[in-house]
Amino acid sequence: MRYTQPMRKGHHRAKRRDDRRPPPRERPVPPPTIPVPHRVKQPKVPSPALRPTAGHWLFTCREGFETQLYEELCWQRCGATLLGPGLVSTERAAKQPPTFARMGFPIDEVVETPQQAAQRLGTAPAKVQVWVPDTQAGNARAGECVAWESTIVSLRAELKDPATPWAAFEQGARLAQVCLVAPHTAAVGSVFAREALSLAPGGRARMKRTAEAPSRAAMKLDEALEWVGVSPGKGDRCVDLGSAPGGWTRRLLERGARVISVDTGLLAPDVASHSRVKHFHQTAFAFTPEEPCDWLFCDMAWRPVEVAQLLAKWARNRWATQLVANLKLPMKDKLPTVVRIRGTLEAGGWSNVKLRQLYHDRDEITVSAVRAG
Ligand SMILES: C[S@@+](CC[C@H](N)C(=O)[O-])C[C@H]1O[C@@H](n2cnc3c(N)ncnc32)[C@H](O)[C@@H]1O
Repeated sequence: MRYTQPMRKGHHRAKRRDDRRPPPRERPVPPPTIPVPHRVKQPKVPSPALRPTAGHWLFTCREGFETQLYEELCWQRCGATLLGPGLVSTERAAKQPPTFARMGFPIDEVVETPQQAAQRLGTAPAKVQVWVPDTQAGNARAGECVAWESTIVSLRAELKDPATPWAAFEQGARLAQVCLVAPHTAAVGSVFAREALSLAPGGRARMKRTAEAPSRAAMKLDEALEWVGVSPGKGDRCVDLGSAPGGWTRRLLERGARVISVDTGLLAPDVASHSRVKHFHQTAFAFTPEEPCDWLFCDMAWRPVEVAQLLAKWARNRWATQLVANLKLPMKDKLPTVVRIRGTLEAGGWSNVKLRQLYHDRDEITVSAVRAG
């Protein structure tokens, strides 16, 4: 049991250790009413996966998220079918990139050999990507994937294929897609690199762990910035909400930015002592910047809709121009929260709002946006 001294009249309680706790949060502006589309009855995930159909689209996602992806595609009324773990197909193209899709392409043909795949891919220059769904069964067939790729690439040796997905992007070329959906069964098609959901095979954009920034958090930011396509540069003013222990802040410093770092926790000593960092040891809900910043970053481990409301406040007050955030979705039924996050950000004044579960995201999504007007 803990005892406290009774307070004598006229005496103020001495500062306790607890006073270092963050002040109570500002009461958030009530969220706008954001309707969630009609819910879709979830079918069972077929196992083994159903065979995809030529003429349809094939989408892939992180294993375990296929029902969320299926429902998102049902909302877009494009004739979705849940094919199996990590795989959903649609009869028509989706109008909006789904949050939970890593990659998607129209299927030209379903083939049984790499020779048939090479033939179907034709002779137009394209960066060939052979991949398996990111599932237990799919990953067990990674060896088959390597063998298919080397056969297809050797059969296309005479063609002037772009060397990398980035080269395909720059040349306006295609990414040829060969997805091994089952042993000796591949869906073959292609997308323009500039229209692809990801430039990485199957959307698995693996970031390098570096010795200076070994955290998954830093890899999440690297992938997010690659996805956004622009990054803060030298002298840019960045605010990093939920910054401790400092993986994101460190990455921003490496790019030459100045960083205001806000967290109730402590930064790693090398980050805290950096000349371009100012750490506010407090809750982000009570933080007000002294001047507007170029970039707002946020990786707060807090309730996602409340974080979205906080980010909306930053747009309303014109405190930031560009947003990159990672929002946590620990709940089982994630889609209503995803809908509320988008609606809250858009109502707050963020435009071009993009939400995506990237490769390094687990029960979380990455958000990017720019301030409207
Ligand atoms: C996933 S960690 C951030 C990791 C960080 N991006 C990095 O790269 O090191 C989540 C952080 O959110 C912080 N956090 C949670 N609620 C917060 C709040 N209300 N205000 C500020 N920080 C908060 C936690 O203290 C924790 O450090």
